[in-house]
Amino acid sequence: MSKHITSNAVSNASGNEPFSSILEKTLSRRTLARGGLGAALAVLSGVSLSACGGGGDDDTPTPDPKLTLGFQSLPVSMTDGCVVPAGYIAHVLAPWGTPFDDNAAPWDRGGNNSSNDLLHSAGMHHDGMHYFPLEGSSTEGLLAINYEYIDEKALHPNGPTTVDGKRPAEEVRKEINAHGAGVIHIRKADGKWNVVKNSRYNRRFTSATPMSLAGPLRGTASVITPYSPNGTLVRGTNNNCGNGFTPWGTYLTAEENWYACFVNKAPAADRPKSQVRMEIPSTSGRYKWETAAGDATEVQGEFARFDITPTGADATQDWRNEANAFGYLVEIDPYDPTSIATKRTALGRFSHEGANYANPVAGKPLAFYSGDDKRFEYIYRFVSEAVWDPSDANRTNRLAVGAKYMDKGTLYVARFGADGSGEWLPLNESAKGKDGRTLLEEFGSLEAILLNTRGAADFVGATPMDRPEWTMTHPVNGDVYVTLTNNTSRNAAAGTNAPNPRLNNANGHIVRWHDEPNSNKFRWDIFVFGSSAGAAADVNRSGLTAANQFASPDGLGIDPRGIMWILTDNGIDGGRNNDVAKTTNDQILAVIPGALADSTGVGPAINKDNQSDLRRFFVGPNEAEITGFAFTPDLKSVFVNIQHPVNWPAYDTEDATKANAGDKVRPRSSTVVIQKADGSAIGV
Ligand code: FEO
Ligand code: CA
Ligand code: CA
Repeated sequence: MSKHITSNAVSNASGNEPFSSILEKTLSRRTLARGGLGAALAVLSGVSLSACGGGGDDDTPTPDPKLTLGFQSLPVSMTDGCVVPAGYIAHVLAPWGTPFDDNAAPWDRGGNNSSNDLLHSAGMHHDGMHYFPLEGSSTEGLLAINYEYIDEKALHPNGPTTVDGKRPAEEVRKEINAHGAGVIHIRKADGKWNVVKNSRYNRRFTSATPMSLAGPLRGTASVITPYSPNGTLVRGTNNNCGNGFTPWGTYLTAEENWYACFVNKAPAADRPKSQVRMEIPSTSGRYKWETAAGDATEVQGEFARFDITPTGADATQDWRNEANAFGYLVEIDPYDPTSIATKRTALGRFSHEGANYANPVAGKPLAFYSGDDKRFEYIYRFVSEAVWDPSDANRTNRLAVGAKYMDKGTLYVARFGADGSGEWLPLNESAKGKDGRTLLEEFGSLEAILLNTRGAADFVGATPMDRPEWTMTHPVNGDVYVTLTNNTSRNAAAGTNAPNPRLNNANGHIVRWHDEPNSNKFRWDIFVFGSSAGAAADVNRSGLTAANQFASPDGLGIDPRGIMWILTDNGIDGGRNNDVAKTTNDQILAVIPGALADSTGVGPAINKDNQSDLRRFFVGPNEAEITGFAFTPDLKSVFVNIQHPVNWPAYDTEDATKANAGDKVRPRSSTVVIQKADGSAIGV
């Protein structure tokens, strides 16, 4: 997520208990390869990779007790380049504006590409992604990727314009098409990954692409619009941040800061609680897309739909319900170019950061986890009604499999105890709130509960967290990790709670839990606290040093061997406003976590005695967040995303013979592929 579109307002008023690279010279301003600062290659103490429940899938990887990190911790960096350890190489893949097919003109460094170009090109501000192999290949596959939001100044030649109070239709369409997600066929040749242009797999999903609604809200009165009078379709997915994927080979894209694209100008008293709790604006949308309504070229209210103020006789006469079809996890089948993206409403409606599933067990329900990235919001779990059939992993009707496991089930929200215990609280009609009344009595229907998922979580007494971002399951031991990126609004009045124990949490931390089998109970501890190296002991509770100080953990990956990769987004409060951000650009760190089963108390698991096991692996360009984490099955190629760089990648600006030598560049968010120069698996 971006520092540019994040709202720091707090809408939770529940009163719940406070608790050497070869980055291509033509694309990169500077390429650095450093080894150097020597964090010792210490073997982790207390590493236990023995399975402790949760596993069971036939593909469960075999842990290697001798697993160690094979690189030394990088120093900090503040440069317009990407830094990788000695022996590693990296190159740029499919930056914003890269054509997917011949319908798009090449990216124009003057910002003059059309909306149609964007419909057939890589979108803007790359975020979550996943690699789907073709025929199991680690050199050819499909990269599903999110394009979270836009930098309007970079997107247009001279930034966004407004004429007589209206945004020009073509500019709005271009912005809409720069959002969303994509599927790109990619192939490796001579060590370098490239887009397979014109592949039948290449697709763009924008904020206007028709999508299907599935689950409890499908066909209900709440999602009827002039575009879909039977409430089954909607146009577009918005502000797709983190991602997930499923055991049956589909991609999940998470709608995070979608709410700000809409506006409801009705008096406060007339606005539904679900809209107020989601902070849908009351004066104008973020990009004022609604102001293009009435343009002579407008098709089926394509712009008017962003103004959800009730003006007509019913929901078929205005766009009052348009926003009710946003705020979900959206399932995409990357292997079937004819399939329709499908919004899975049973998993709740909020600012979904991403999603991940618990290790599947044959004959048991599946569980998915998702954080709601907002200050003092919650962590959710969805448990399927259907039990896992491992043969579903290999079916070709993947969206039907998705319907089987994701359209019927129970949504829960987490309540953490102070003693390392925890409980998942159900959010269904019969569940009881803090006052003893049922959710049905309070909300009237499951449809209303899901529409106002945050309100339902308030009602049952969930634990307000410090901005839950990515969740990730350890593939061997089943522990689940969540990044809590930061929360400087956690002041004395708000108070702390056990899993969020620091006031003015400018650095963030990572919490993990382990669900007890067949139960709504879990155990938890704190894995690591972000901090600058020089902070007081009460802040630097994990004893971080110059070699691994970090803040604002966001993206998270755990590869099949059990190496955890922590990605940071530290543009806190709109700038370099903590000591880590004043010291280094955003980064990736790696560590091999032991199991929660070995934990005593509530952590932190990483402390002054073992903190050198946490190592800095990558540092990105100035002002960029590092996000998205994907890898090939052979672990020889890792894909990460550079989002919102300020002056990267450069193109010819270092060539003194070029007219634009030394210029600032029009920055391009991009995927970066990291490999080892010797072609072996990364990390070890
Ligand atoms: Fe889009 Fe919460 O990061
Ligand atoms: Ca994020
Ligand atoms: Ca973030």
